This record gives sequence, C-alpha cells and structure tokens, in this order.
Amino acid sequence: MAGGVGSRFWPVSKQSFPKQFHDMLGMGKSLLQMTFDRLKHQIRAQHILVLTNEAYVDLVKEQLPDMNFDNIVAEPAMRNTAPCILLAALKIQKMNPQASMIVAPSDHYIAEEDIFNEDLNTAFDFCKEHPDALMTLGIQPTFPNTGYGYIEFNKEASEVKKVSQFREKPDLKTAQEFIAAGNFLWNAGIFIWNVDSVVSAFAKAQPQLTSLFKNGLSVFNTNEETEWLEENYPKADNISVDFAIMEKSEDVYVLPARFSWNDLGTWGSLYEKLDKNEKDSAVVNASVTEIDSSKNMIRTAAGKKVIVQGLENYIVVDQDDVLMIIPMTAEQEIKEIRNKAMEKY
Ligand code: GDD
Ligand code: MG
Repeated sequence: MAGGVGSRFWPVSKQSFPKQFHDMLGMGKSLLQMTFDRLKHQIRAQHILVLTNEAYVDLVKEQLPDMNFDNIVAEPAMRNTAPCILLAALKIQKMNPQASMIVAPSDHYIAEEDIFNEDLNTAFDFCKEHPDALMTLGIQPTFPNTGYGYIEFNKEASEVKKVSQFREKPDLKTAQEFIAAGNFLWNAGIFIWNVDSVVSAFAKAQPQLTSLFKNGLSVFNTNEETEWLEENYPKADNISVDFAIMEKSEDVYVLPARFSWNDLGTWGSLYEKLDKNEKDSAVVNASVTEIDSSKNMIRTAAGKKVIVQGLENYIVVDQDDVLMIIPMTAEQEIKEIRNKAMEKY
C-alpha cells in the first residue's frame, strides 16, 4: 500500500510527493524501495502488487524499475486502505483462490529483517492450519499513542494469540487504560491471511463495498480494469481496513512481533529511530553546528550547513521553498501549521 499522503511529515512529505517516496532515513533508498526489498525475500517480485493513487504511478515506476509494471494498481481516488485491500484480494483470488496474502504499509522502518522473515513464516504457517484466520503482527506498546490500533489478546502460552478485541485509534483515556491492562499490543498494520478468508470477512462486515467490487470481477487483471476502476472505485466508502473488518471480525489472531519496528509517522518518531550525534540530535542531509543546543531533529534537502544556538527539542526542516522550525511537542499539529502557513502563499 503506497497511496497515503503522510501529512505529519510536511514540508518534506507533500501530496505531490508523499513520504513513502522519500529517503526519510538518509539511507540512500526511499521507504517504498526499502519495503519492496524487504518483501522480495518472502514473495517473488512478480507476485508483489503496489496499490497507489494514480498520481503516484510514475513515481512507483521510477523507484521500482525491476517490478512488473502490470502489478501497479492506480486508484483514481483516495479511499483509505479498505477498498485497496479488498481490490487486491479479489485480484489475487482471481489468479489463485488458494493464495495467501501479506498486506504491508510502505512507510515503516523494520530492523532485523531476518527475524521479520521468521515471524512472517510463523504467520503463514498459522494461516495454513487455521484457514479462516485474519492475522496481524503486534508491537509491544511503549506509551498511549492514539494514532495506532490496539489489540487485546487472550493470555495464553501459544506463540500466536487469539484477539478478543481490536480497537482502532482509541481516545487518550482509553489508550491509557489499554496500556495499564498489560494485555494489549499495537497493530503494526501488517496483515497475513488467505485471500478467501479476507474476502469472506469483507463480505460479512462490508457487504456494500464487496458487492461494488465483485461487479468488476470479470474485468480484473484484464485491459479493461483501469476503465472500470475510473468509473467505480470513487464510489467506494472512504474507510480503513482496521475499522472496516479488523474491529468487526471474529477470527482475528496476533503474533507478537520480535523485530524492532518504527511507524515513522512523525518527526519525533524519526528522531527516535535515527542515530544521535554528540549533542543527542538527529541530523539528516545537513552539516550542523550546535551551540548550547541539544535533542533536535534537523533535516535539509541537500546537505545545507545549519547553525543553531540555544535550541533544544526542536524540529528544523528545510525543503524546497519552506523552512520550518517548531518545537518537538508540536509534531502532531503539523497539518494545522501547514494549513495556516499555506494560506499566506
Ligand atoms: N493504496 C493506498 N490507498 N494506500 C493507502 C491509502 C489509500 O487510499 N491510504 C493509506 N495508504 C497506505 C499508506 O501509504 C500507508 O503505507 C498504509 O496505507 C497505512 O496507512 P496510514 O494512513 O499510514 O494508516 P495509519 O498509520 O493511520 O494506521 C494504520 O497503521 C498503524 C501502524 O502504523 C492502522 O493499521 C493502525 O491500526 C496501525 O496501528
Ligand atoms: Mg501510518
């Protein structure tokens, strides 16, 4: 899935060039390229679909020249993750009804890829034994983040645990209660299931969306698919997979992930992930002199020299015609900050 906008990473991530296409970590590869390379160890490259907005198809082709371009699905409207996942599942099911499927976001950082692969194998094996299972990977929570899905699992000794409740983006008070309870994990947003079972889950929980897309089955994976999508995809509800099926289904299971994971959703989470300099600052693409300064997240587009004095816990981002300097504590308000700033242009 590479069709989101990543608005909290403005001014680097923009609607015209969202974060998954940027080298956010300064590692020489975009997050999308890192995701594709990671998944290639599990799934043959010709079996990987990339679903994205039609505006980003050229970017995907440019960044993933080795992929089969027929596997790029262009969405004519932004409708969040449920429609794109159902569409992908129907396309895969049409090719092979016995197929299993992994759904991955394109904007995460995962360390220890060998452990990631082992965890995926465990998940695929579980789905073989429990064909109806909808599996997700769970992350040990560290604070009551309200931007994630929470998974309550049954305390049992087995590696894979039955989920008793899936709750997407709870309010702060609820998130605090979940953390205190001890038997909740964060949803990593990576799902593993058999195509048949996810299509059935959609049919049960989202009958309207399912019948809309099933009407197009005869043209999926043919030359007429694009035209069908142009006309019909915008009719789909705007809803995430988490609200659409994960909160509503019975057969949800979680495998607590053993690899390190970072959602890379905000400048603060990028700061957490990056190595720090002697001032405890994280710096990407810049040469920095910090006087009486510490704990800053500093990024420039092209190796600019940055000098700061008396600056602590700030985000400094220089991209194209925008220079943004805001306290780290304002990282969740970037959408509003951007809107305010852009009014003046
Ligand atoms: N193709 C496509 N089309 N992809 C999309 C669309 C769309 O309309 N909208 C979002 N995506 C992609 C994003 O680019 C990202 O890779 C992925 O789908 C997840 O979307 P986000 O918008 O980043 O979701 P989220 O972060 O709010 O929440 C999800 O991820 C959390 C973990 O990072 C949920 O699954 C949460 O439960 C989870 O905790
Ligand atoms: Mg996200």
